[in-house]
Amino acid sequence: MSIRPILIHPDPRLKKLCEPVSAVTSDIGKLAEDMLETMYDAPGVGLAAPQVGVLKRIFVMDCVKEDDAEKRPMVLINPEIIASSEETNTYEEGCLSIPEQYAEVTRPKLVTMRWMGLDGKTHEDEFDALWATCAQHELDHLNGKLFIDHLGAIKRQMITRKMVKYKREKARA
Ligand code: NI
Repeated sequence: MSIRPILIHPDPRLKKLCEPVSAVTSDIGKLAEDMLETMYDAPGVGLAAPQVGVLKRIFVMDCVKEDDAEKRPMVLINPEIIASSEETNTYEEGCLSIPEQYAEVTRPKLVTMRWMGLDGKTHEDEFDALWATCAQHELDHLNGKLFIDHLGAIKRQMITRKMVKYKREKARA
């Protein structure tokens, strides 16, 4: 396993529609392991393949918050939403590709997702609360969409300008 560098917005690779995964190969298994390690290391609760520069439909998440609780790493390949609730939830979201920037985003409170697991089998589960928000945020990444795309233009541009500055300072350091 190894930690992969995380792309920082703005980056054209974060705006791309990702390709479905056709089969769970050893490369996909390695990618998933690396993504989980990268996410835990960051630390974050979710990470999508395009954030490490791989334009494939796969994301990982673990929204178990308590430090002492058992980890619950999940790998979702070719995920799709098959049902979502009318009821919504608003969370202050952040993103490992947009460090230190947070904003409230409203999304369906419950989503049912179907995906392929690392076992190559189809899985289905309903996610609630933070898990639902995280799953939708990560699925957005696979469609080239960031949480700031849910905000108004002014807020989005303000965050993007901050990120341009952040990247410039990081490159200089
Ligand atoms: Ni994100």
